[in-house]
Amino acid sequence: MSLLIKNGRIITAADDYKADIFISGEKIQAIGEKLQVEADQTIDAQDHLVMPGGIDPHVHLAMPFMGTYSSDDYASGTLAALHGGTTTVIDFVLQTQGKSLHDALSSWKGRSDGNCYGDYSFHMAVTDFNEHTAKEVGQLIEEEGITSFKTFMAYKGALMIDDGQMIGLMKEVEEKGGMVTVHATNGDMIDTLIAKHRSEGKLSPLYHYLSQPEITEAEASGRFCDMADYTGVPAYIVHLTCEGALNATRRAGSRNQKVFVETCIQYLLLDASLYEKDFDGAKWVMSPPLRQKKDQKALWSGINQGLVQVVATDHCPFKWAQKLMGKDDFSKIPNGHPAIEHRMELLFSEGVNTGRISPNKFVEVTSTNPAKIFGMHPKKGCIAVGSDADLIIFDPHKEHMLSADTHHMNVDYSAYEGWKVKGKCIHVILRGKHAIDKGKVKIEKGYGSFIKRNKVSKVV
Ligand code: URP
Ligand code: ZN
Ligand code: ZN
Repeated sequence: MSLLIKNGRIITAADDYKADIFISGEKIQAIGEKLQVEADQTIDAQDHLVMPGGIDPHVHLAMPFMGTYSSDDYASGTLAALHGGTTTVIDFVLQTQGKSLHDALSSWKGRSDGNCYGDYSFHMAVTDFNEHTAKEVGQLIEEEGITSFKTFMAYKGALMIDDGQMIGLMKEVEEKGGMVTVHATNGDMIDTLIAKHRSEGKLSPLYHYLSQPEITEAEASGRFCDMADYTGVPAYIVHLTCEGALNATRRAGSRNQKVFVETCIQYLLLDASLYEKDFDGAKWVMSPPLRQKKDQKALWSGINQGLVQVVATDHCPFKWAQKLMGKDDFSKIPNGHPAIEHRMELLFSEGVNTGRISPNKFVEVTSTNPAKIFGMHPKKGCIAVGSDADLIIFDPHKEHMLSADTHHMNVDYSAYEGWKVKGKCIHVILRGKHAIDKGKVKIEKGYGSFIKRNKVSKVV
């Protein structure tokens, strides 16, 4: 099959120009003005933007968590992602404490293999670092193409590791050519605040927010950067939310450390006033919680200053019945919110169409940087001859409204209900296949492929 995309305005992280793109098989074969080629199918992209497919490096699909499972599985989650212009996701395998990394990988493969519409990869979350786990790190990098290792400095008793384990893992990963990523919040401080609020009978979602003040994230982010500096490991902080934590990463920058920062779309657009809506606030119970307007400002400028390199989602949806598990106690509300489908359109609407970021920066933080940081570039994350033909054809002016009535995620409410968005993904091409055509799905479940990733470059 071959495909010609004509007359589009091509936007990459670096360029902005008009040209045609010729695709044959899974790859981009030629880019040029008025290409004279015969193709099986032609799409006219006049007045539209042609950009690399989005890469969301932080999603949780069918994940066992807090006594339940996140409600999007690999089929519904990757399909919803495609509808919104995200062609590749990186999901998290969670080691069970006391078991091996390979045990966890085989159970995650059991749920994902053959079930994805979009392309996907895995980070490995190490929740129990020991002699056995250490031996598995190199195997996962060399044999499975899993090159990033996630750690939690919170969720004690389930996912959290202590600083001794963190240092041990960092040394091992550094030696084998991988990266350590982190949920950086101070788990002990948070647990103390949760216990205090519960003992005082303060049980509404607002107290989820009040149990995780900014300092818990700023302190852990700084400590993580210091440990990464000590061990020399390339590092990445997931879902950074606030000014204090961003400031804590500046020291890493001045030491020329390789520490990358991800924020998520919700921290740029939503704020903690949503927790004042009584139990309805449970829709936004996530960790870290939403913050203040001053934090949004710091994150937007962090993007433009290059301090924040990635905008992801931390998509971890739970249906309302699942959120109700915590109706009498905020600490039992499953943490997470649905966004996999909306990241690209929301960021374009609120970022590019408001003038906060350029179209090039949009591509950089939604696709090119995640591809580079996580070892998928130039296969993914760019528009270049020889790269995978993962493309979106985007109408920058089309207005539409977000709602649970129309979204494709497997969740019965929207965290963005009624939001008016300007900019819509009209066509999605995944490895040369026309996957989404004006909302119609043209590929089958199972088309999505597992992407083995490269080792991490030491160059900053
Ligand atoms: O609230 C969240 N973020 N849920 C998913 C797990 C995590 O911490 O990323
Ligand atoms: Zn987290
Ligand atoms: Zn997460």
